[in-house]
Amino acid sequence: MSLLSVENLQIRFRTGDGLVHAVNDVSFDMAEGQKLALVGESGSGKSQIALAIMGLLAKNAEVAGKVRFDGRDLLSLPASQLNALRAAQIALIFQDPMSSLNPYMTIERQLGEVVELHEGASRAEARKRALEVMEAVRIPDARNRLRAYPHEFSGGMRQRIVIAMALICRPRLILADEPTTALDVT
Ligand SMILES: Nc1ncnc2c1ncn2[C@@H]1O[C@H](COP(=O)(O)OP(=O)(O)OP(=O)(O)O)[C@@H](O)[C@H]1O
Ligand SMILES: [Mg+2]
Repeated sequence: MSLLSVENLQIRFRTGDGLVHAVNDVSFDMAEGQKLALVGESGSGKSQIALAIMGLLAKNAEVAGKVRFDGRDLLSLPASQLNALRAAQIALIFQDPMSSLNPYMTIERQLGEVVELHEGASRAEARKRALEVMEAVRIPDARNRLRAYPHEFSGGMRQRIVIAMALICRPRLILADEPTTALDVT
């Protein structure tokens, strides 16, 4: 059985200039452990597909088709159930790292909060897991850097922190929306 199945996904946006057909009839299947890359020019709908899977499309969006995750229809799932799936089972690495980091919170709190919220972890356990993922994405001096704020990191480091945040709950599916655009190629 596939872990994720997208069937005839269509995304349209209602705008002042009429209907924008952002995604037309996209279908694909993914099994557990499989990797799949979506390639397309700027504006072809890659990010909107990821956002639709996460239930995070803009208010003016109209969606048709089916998105099944582990047998559940994500497009008709109540918000509370979708929220429970996010981060814990499906994680999204946003294209722009600053849009998923809170400038007023330390990295330790932002990473730790995810584990506390989704797994009921204690503060100490959350701190330990935050350190593990910071080391996994090779942030130097991770233990001390946990207390820093997003602006105290370089752009490439922020991008890696966002990747760390996606990994922290060990999700079954990671949607990586151009996760390396802010990184040095080396
Ligand atoms: N809220 C919205 N209202 C109207 N149009 C929108 C809205 N959100 C996205 N779009 C349009 O949907 C289309 C697909 O956008 P999307 O962000 O998925 O492209 P992309 O393939 O990720 O591009 P890039 O490679 O530049 O990131 C674009 O034409 C965009 O302008
Ligand atoms: Mg995009």
